[in-house]
Amino acid sequence: MVDGSSRTLPAASYFDAAVYDRERRSIFAAEWLWFACESELETPGSYVAREYAGWRLMVVRAPDGQLRGFHNVCRHRAGPLVDDGAGSCANLVCRYHGWSYAFDGQLRSARDFGVEFDHDEYALLGIRVEMWRGQVFVNLDAGAPSLLEDLRDFFEEAAGFSVESMQLVRLAHHDLACNWKTYADNYLEGYHIPMMHPMLNRMYDAKRYDVVLGDRYCRHSAPARNGGDVNGRWLYRWPNLALNIYGDSMNVEVIVPTGPRTCRVLYVHLFLSLDDPDIDQVIRFSDEVMEEDRAMVEVVQRNLECGAYTDGLLSPKHEHAVAQFQDLVRRSSGETI
Ligand code: FES
Ligand SMILES: [Fe+2]
Repeated sequence: MVDGSSRTLPAASYFDAAVYDRERRSIFAAEWLWFACESELETPGSYVAREYAGWRLMVVRAPDGQLRGFHNVCRHRAGPLVDDGAGSCANLVCRYHGWSYAFDGQLRSARDFGVEFDHDEYALLGIRVEMWRGQVFVNLDAGAPSLLEDLRDFFEEAAGFSVESMQLVRLAHHDLACNWKTYADNYLEGYHIPMMHPMLNRMYDAKRYDVVLGDRYCRHSAPARNGGDVNGRWLYRWPNLALNIYGDSMNVEVIVPTGPRTCRVLYVHLFLSLDDPDIDQVIRFSDEVMEEDRAMVEVVQRNLECGAYTDGLLSPKHEHAVAQFQDLVRRSSGETI
């Protein structure tokens, strides 16, 4: 060990199927997860469904105005209630054999089943849904603390910004051939910026890139090279949520595991005004940075899997947020640090 540095996670944790299965349960079935913008769920019957680390989840706006969350899995023989994506439905009817459920999840009718049974025992399986300033989060753990309590310090970082006034402009996704932690590790340090991001490097002084750690989150900053103020916060909250907030725009980046060797990055762009003349340029620039990162993380993934590398070192100067993230990964699996 080199003084002051820490060791990385072992290479196998980036592709081993048993590790992935453990993380599905110990992290993604235990933590608050960003799920949607509330503006996607305005009218009664509107829904968002997505697969999240193998969990098949949906959130729907019930006719009483409440948001409700369920596993998108019918209690008959595991058919889906809705297709993945955003949409609207008049009823919750399973697409396989047509069992229908009320918007509170109660089984209303088991179409032409041939025998009576107790419907109460076959309600949809619920998940928790809570809101923060127009952003919808879910949690599969009924015993978890509330969203606002659990993410309090992280949310306080955004206190001075008009988060709820930001309007959804684009929700893109990028499918990457790497483990979700390969992408998160990369996101959590500015060490690679001078090597990988020429444009970003021209805008910000990467030598003075600074990362401050908080309770399961970190705040990144770097001074602009032109001396101008950077009126914004670049934040990352364990396990998989990045939030970049400025005076007039914000983006939410969410790393969704899709398998031991793949992930999907959801990229949500929100702007204070839909007439903002910078919209196209901001989106183009973030796509460019994403492609620069993709080129590296997909090769890193293959190198992690190649058999030559077992583990490595994290710089205390540049990679302390990576170390914090990896400590939380270890802790989630019950390892003492
Ligand atoms: S699986 Fe849903 S009705 Fe059969
Ligand atoms: Fe990067």
